[in-house]
Amino acid sequence: MAKKIQFVETVLRDANQSLIATRLPFEKFEPMLETIDKAGYYAAECWGGATFDVCLRYLNEDPWERLRKIRAKMPNTKLQMLLRGQNVLGYSHYPDDFVKLFVQKAVENGIDVIRIFDALNDVKNMKVAMDATVKAGAIASGTISYTSSPVHTLAKYVEMVKELKEMGASTICIKDMSGIIGPQEIYDLVSAIKDAVDLPVDLHTHCTTGLAYPVYMKAVEAGVDIIDTAISPFSGGTSQPATETMAYALRQLGYQVDLDDACTTKMANYFKTIRDEFIADGTLIPKALATDTQCLTYQIPGGMLSNLMTQLKQMNALDRLEEVMTETPKVRADMGYPPLVTPTSQMVGVQAVNNVLAGERYKRVSKEIKAYCRGEYGETPAPINPEIQKMILGDEQPLTTRYADSLPPIVEPTRQKLGGLAKSDEDVLSYIAFPNLAEKFFEERKAKEENICAYSIVEA
Ligand code: CO
Repeated sequence: MAKKIQFVETVLRDANQSLIATRLPFEKFEPMLETIDKAGYYAAECWGGATFDVCLRYLNEDPWERLRKIRAKMPNTKLQMLLRGQNVLGYSHYPDDFVKLFVQKAVENGIDVIRIFDALNDVKNMKVAMDATVKAGAIASGTISYTSSPVHTLAKYVEMVKELKEMGASTICIKDMSGIIGPQEIYDLVSAIKDAVDLPVDLHTHCTTGLAYPVYMKAVEAGVDIIDTAISPFSGGTSQPATETMAYALRQLGYQVDLDDACTTKMANYFKTIRDEFIADGTLIPKALATDTQCLTYQIPGGMLSNLMTQLKQMNALDRLEEVMTETPKVRADMGYPPLVTPTSQMVGVQAVNNVLAGERYKRVSKEIKAYCRGEYGETPAPINPEIQKMILGDEQPLTTRYADSLPPIVEPTRQKLGGLAKSDEDVLSYIAFPNLAEKFFEERKAKEENICAYSIVEA
């Protein structure tokens, strides 16, 4: 019997985030939700990542309400979100009570699959979220943040996967955020994982370097069960490979693909017009759709490279770019080879710039790098260079325990503080995640409600 390959559609989350900075409002994708629901996907990735932040910051949407509205229109498809482990949806670690309640409420509001990762692949930072997901009855997808370095061996990834299974992972996800994994590497990695654990494996990559299509083919050959794709008008470049293209290619090779072509065609036609609107207003820039192979030479993800250039330009030092690019892998090695993903990519990049421009390495150190050296982001893949760590910390001793163990509970004090401004636990969670944005949102909501109220009294 032909092996079945399942698909996760990313147009609502990662494709939206990677191509148009997550600016897709609910109204623009609402007309397609019933079609996506009928198309036969394993899951629709639709929440988490940057969607929460952008809903509050730019779209004046309550992210929780968005989720409930998607759920109502998509009763048959699993809804998936991306969660940064102990960072939840933010950039530093939160206390455990917040992580637990956030996961519980995400599931209550409609999430079925939570893809949980940590920027350092430190499973201690994933455990609370994994436990909460299992407890809430959702699917915990234990995720590897893929990177390559002398310490990131197949054996190490396999060890991590076994730990994730132990923690209750129902699926394993390989997350290649920069699109740097090659076809032989993915073949070896998937084979090793499949040998080690009996769990479905999901592959997530980006087309940034152009490797994604051959990588998906080799991954399927090695036994991958689920692939992440985006409907064609939102595919390619910094986004995922196209859904219809992968379905076509896999069927030709004899695999079973249960997608309904009439549905994907309808989706493609619809999202083509949406994409053209975003091209017309300048939100979708041509560079996002291009192939960028520099990353393969410099080992610096595409997004990070453009950040470095912007930063140097602002400092009138664009002529030092070559030096900064040489310095970046050295800083990464000093820091114990972290995968370059939010927030480690920014931290390493800024430090490389500091090292070059100050004319002396680690003379200027950001507070994030200091916190990193203290162990506040977790255990690094390899030890931090001890001399540099000592230089940065002085007499201060790095943590030997999990940082979140030192953080006091935050939910109850915040609930007390907000009083009537928060109408639900979801509001309290939004506030803890993004206090300024949430407060502004609550106040605008209140004003709107009072207006409606006054109006209805007049009407009556
Ligand atoms: Co991604």
